[in-house]
Amino acid sequence: MRARRDRQTTGYPAAPETSGPLLEVADLTTHFRTGRGMVRAVDGVSFSLDRGRTLGVVGESGSGKTVLSRSIMGLLPRTNVVRSGEVRFAGRELTALTEAELRDIWGVEIGMVFQDPMTSLNPVMRVGRQITESLRHHLGVDRAEGRRRAVALLDSVGIPEPEQRLGDFPHQLSGGMRQRVTIAVALACGPRLLMADEPTTALDVTVQAQILDLLARQQRERYMAMVLVTHDLGVVAGRTDEIAVMYAGKIVEKAPTRTLFSDMKMPYTEALLKSIPKLADPSHTTLSVIPGRPPDLVNLPTGCRFYPRCPYAQQRCRDEEPPLQEATTPGHVYRCWFPVGTPEGRDALDRNRREGRLDAGAPVAPAGA
Ligand SMILES: Nc1ncnc2c1ncn2[C@@H]1O[C@H](COP(=O)(O)OP(=O)(O)O)[C@@H](O)[C@H]1O
Ligand code: SF4
Ligand SMILES: [Mg+2]
Repeated sequence: MRARRDRQTTGYPAAPETSGPLLEVADLTTHFRTGRGMVRAVDGVSFSLDRGRTLGVVGESGSGKTVLSRSIMGLLPRTNVVRSGEVRFAGRELTALTEAELRDIWGVEIGMVFQDPMTSLNPVMRVGRQITESLRHHLGVDRAEGRRRAVALLDSVGIPEPEQRLGDFPHQLSGGMRQRVTIAVALACGPRLLMADEPTTALDVTVQAQILDLLARQQRERYMAMVLVTHDLGVVAGRTDEIAVMYAGKIVEKAPTRTLFSDMKMPYTEALLKSIPKLADPSHTTLSVIPGRPPDLVNLPTGCRFYPRCPYAQQRCRDEEPPLQEATTPGHVYRCWFPVGTPEGRDALDRNRREGRLDAGAPVAPAGA
């Protein structure tokens, strides 16, 4: 109710209300043709997100998170991309829209915040104008009203002396302040969905927490849905309703946030959890605890894509790809033959321990060896 009232009083365009989830992604696949072969960056991803809800997308660097977010929005290179599947947003099939049609959705219905604020801000345009341009272009507000709203937006994202900041160029601001401006720009037209891809990865730890809290507050106050993409499971803990864990282009586990932390089924999720960096850790952005490396997306292993690194792996993992199956908690799905915390999982782990197959990188000999 609150969001609707806000829209009416602020003059945001009232997009048609539809029943069903706000965002529905079905079997989305995004591959890149390269000289080395086909890079299977996103490989059959499905999820849905309701209005006002938050989904965290987590996985190591290179697991396909950015390609997934850009593929959802239709922000992909023009050539050498093979995309299939469906992306329904507020009842519209985004994959069927032209770039011109998508431009009316980007920044208006769907706000975007990326890792590096300088990629979304125009370096030669003053901060105030970056916000008012969007307001005037998409909402048709006049100059004075645009300025008034820009000041209010900068104030709402915690920028001190917002009137003075309107005249600044992005390079005159600190990294944290720049990211606040990006968020203000993303929120300007009252989007119903915010896609935030590693929004705090480039910032130092204390500023990270401030920006994440700001995003969470704005998301709640605006009853906006949010997809928060990060390599750091610590970032989405306590700040999302649900978490999807990605590995080598696939969602390997998805669960309500609390369930994921208390009852994870995938050994990969367990490994990610163990790798949450401590605040005092200077190498805050590296996930060095999981032995081995993610697979090459051109030459993926057969069976489970995690098996070359998995401490639970058995022969079956190498031979057969585990399907997505449901756990007991509603909304909890995972792909694993020997899940964490189950008798089969414990047996598998014990067997590998006994046989000394838990060393970094290769618990099971690679296929064909
Ligand atoms: N335009 C492209 N052409 C070829 N490969 C790409 C392209 N964009 C991304 N990739 C590859 O897709 C994979 C997933 O990348 P990305 O989504 O950026 O990972 P993440 O965001 O999880 O770190 C990586 O192997 C990356 O090299
Ligand atoms: S136990 Fe097997 S199926 Fe499960 S994550 Fe490990 S390798 Fe994959
Ligand atoms: Mg990324």
